[in-house]
Amino acid sequence: MKYDFDEVIERKHTNSLKWDFAESKFGEKDLLPMWVADMDFKVSQPVIEAVVRKAEEGVYGYADRLDPYYEAVIGWMDRRHGWKIEREWITYSPGVVSALHWLVRAYTNPGDKVVIQAPVYYPFYSAVTNNGCEVVINELKLENGHYRMDFNDLEQKLKDNPDAKLLILCSPHNPVGRVWTREELARLGEICLRHKVMIVADEIHGDLVYKGCKHTPLAMISEELAQNSITCTAPSKTFNLAGLQTSNIIIPNQGLRRTYLDILEQNGVRRPNIFGIVAAEAAYNDGEEWLEQLLVYLNGNLDFLTDFISKKLPKVKVIKPEGTYLIWLDFREYGLDGKAMENVMLKQAKLALDEGYIFGPGGEGFERINIACPRAVLAEGLARVEKTFNALK
Ligand SMILES: Cc1ncc(COP(=O)(O)O)c(C=O)c1O
Repeated sequence: MKYDFDEVIERKHTNSLKWDFAESKFGEKDLLPMWVADMDFKVSQPVIEAVVRKAEEGVYGYADRLDPYYEAVIGWMDRRHGWKIEREWITYSPGVVSALHWLVRAYTNPGDKVVIQAPVYYPFYSAVTNNGCEVVINELKLENGHYRMDFNDLEQKLKDNPDAKLLILCSPHNPVGRVWTREELARLGEICLRHKVMIVADEIHGDLVYKGCKHTPLAMISEELAQNSITCTAPSKTFNLAGLQTSNIIIPNQGLRRTYLDILEQNGVRRPNIFGIVAAEAAYNDGEEWLEQLLVYLNGNLDFLTDFISKKLPKVKVIKPEGTYLIWLDFREYGLDGKAMENVMLKQAKLALDEGYIFGPGGEGFERINIACPRAVLAEGLARVEKTFNALK
């Protein structure tokens, strides 16, 4: 069937975090919300039907995942990424952020170091510090509009910090939009193996890549890396199911898996949400057609934004994304610091974006905009930026 991503769906007064909580979070009225990473699109028809069928059963007791659920996840990873995973590797978490917290707790002791590659999705910092560990930054390098990993710096940081136990990888990377190549991942993996640093790969955006790019699951690269890593995946970003709180944490190594499961047990984390199970299963089995159409629409939104900015906001640079629907925009030519930028966006443009500085070192002067919305909404957001920034002295 043909999906209509141009349809504007009213999300106000639906308990939407993005729409109904923007005012309380940002302290301004009448904001157009283009911040948190969910999409303003209706989900695929098979998902709606599966959830409605479950709702109509009318009994919502405790639930758990049966064989067809695992088969759906295994089938998806194989079909989309060529990654052959086994049923027992698949463990549970409601969300990936929760999993990051539990994984840090599982594999470190308070006082240990954890490496992250800034600027990066801000809960990576709290997953480390909330567990009494210390963040070590391996900052990404921006050269000619393209981000790359700084392997020399990583090597040096791991030499200098023998108590670094873990690296949290964002692949594809939020917010800079890189889809790391197999070669980059292999090099990162080799350095971590040599320094006995485990990798937690947050691959939640792995299905959302632009034309011509290919996501490589880190654990697929070699058996050694499969045994030295944990992969966080979910249908939440791919299929717009974030409110259903269902993620799959894939752990090939039996010992590491046991340690993670022990942490879940110690924290009283039990079974998944019944609607999350049926929605994920339907999405993985029957949501591919929707996803293919979504990716075409997102490519169109990206082209629209790129064209708009090059014509009307020449001081802003678009960091060309290879994946994710979160676009990283460089406003540094305006010379405003992070707080000043935030003020202009909120008070003058009336736009709720994720400010670059919240992503840590290397983020100040950038803005992250979520383009997973109907083109008309994107056009309105960009028009607000144009009007405001072109009026600045
Ligand atoms: C890299 C990354 N990890 C995790 C999440 C959130 O995952 P969850 O809602 O499953 O906690 C996001 C959401 O934006 C993300 O970008």
